Amino acid sequence: MPQQINVGIIGCGAMGETHARCLAAIEHASIRAFCDADEQRAQALCATYHGGYATTDPERVLRDDTIDAVYICTHHDTHSTLCIRAAECHKHVMVEKPLALTLNECYAVGNAVEKHGITLMTGFKMRYYPAVARVKEYIPTPLVTTGQMLDGRWPDDFWANDPVKGGGNVLSQGCHTMDLVYYLNGSEPERIYAEGGNFTHQGLAIVDNIVATLRFKNGSVASIVQGDSGQTPFVSKFSFQVTDGRKTAHLRNRLKSVTFFDGEKPEEITDPEEYGFPEENRDFIRALLTTTAPPITHRDGLRATLLILKAFESLKTGLPQTISF
Ligand SMILES: NC(=O)c1ccc[n+]([C@@H]2O[C@H](COP(=O)([O-])OP(=O)(O)OC[C@H]3O[C@@H](n4cnc5c(N)ncnc54)[C@H](O)[C@@H]3O)[C@@H](O)[C@H]2O)c1
Repeated sequence: MPQQINVGIIGCGAMGETHARCLAAIEHASIRAFCDADEQRAQALCATYHGGYATTDPERVLRDDTIDAVYICTHHDTHSTLCIRAAECHKHVMVEKPLALTLNECYAVGNAVEKHGITLMTGFKMRYYPAVARVKEYIPTPLVTTGQMLDGRWPDDFWANDPVKGGGNVLSQGCHTMDLVYYLNGSEPERIYAEGGNFTHQGLAIVDNIVATLRFKNGSVASIVQGDSGQTPFVSKFSFQVTDGRKTAHLRNRLKSVTFFDGEKPEEITDPEEYGFPEENRDFIRALLTTTAPPITHRDGLRATLLILKAFESLKTGLPQTISF
């Protein structure tokens, strides 16, 4: 078994920095390469974390035999190509969401991961909040789930709103919502129907707000609200509720607060802080050190991205879409 995992970070912006900070605190992880299309960003992060080298060329990192794993923290249009190249170069991958921008690219990433037998984990930090774990324990098999992530309006010139680089709020952040609803529900989704479109960014070719209905294989259902049409201070950007026919649990306050209700007396718990980034990094490195599967696999990344892309298909066709992968 490996004693240490050597990492290259591709994309040295906000998330590259966040992951570098988390990795620097992990004893058996070492960052050896910092890559960014913007040379100064790569050099700046390299200097801060005393890494091996800075480069603008992802191929240099992917072909570096001393590197075991790459973090893909670039803009969305590069994720699938970099994931596939990483798999071909036998590098393990931690990738930020979404996995890809099209259904075909999603399937291609899944095929490459399985063909080359690498480990690919997607950064779904929301699974690590203690309040989420408490909800899963309180209601292990929900019947009806609601998941809402509504942000304040994103600036038009934000890269994530660029139709090519980002794809808009629903693709960018909706992956988190889809993943958390799946995770809380615990059953594979089989059908999705969506309404919505471009409400807050006219002139940009993006979907910025949707409501969607999901049906899961165990017969349970969920409704999703995703977009940047405005945040409500009452629940914060996040509001997730599960019910099982008798009990309810409601997450809000950026997933730090949860209210449990058994029909008689509500009970509320609030955590002092947010979680996720250090925990997901520790899990990824631990999985590579112990050659075991990480708790969030490439199939989780695929499912969440596919659900958003299938929701877009539903908007276009006006029809429910089946989910299979
Ligand atoms: N999990 C979360 O909570 C969370 C939060 C924010 C962003 N994200 C995700 O993280 C990813 C990065 O977002 P960010 O906020 O760090 O963006 P950012 O703009 O701060 O950083 C992205 C960096 O990637 C670089 N880049 C783009 N294409 C490249 C290429 N081909 N090769 C090398 N470098 C390239 C850019 O120059 C930029 O420095 C996105 O997928 C985003 O959706 C996740």
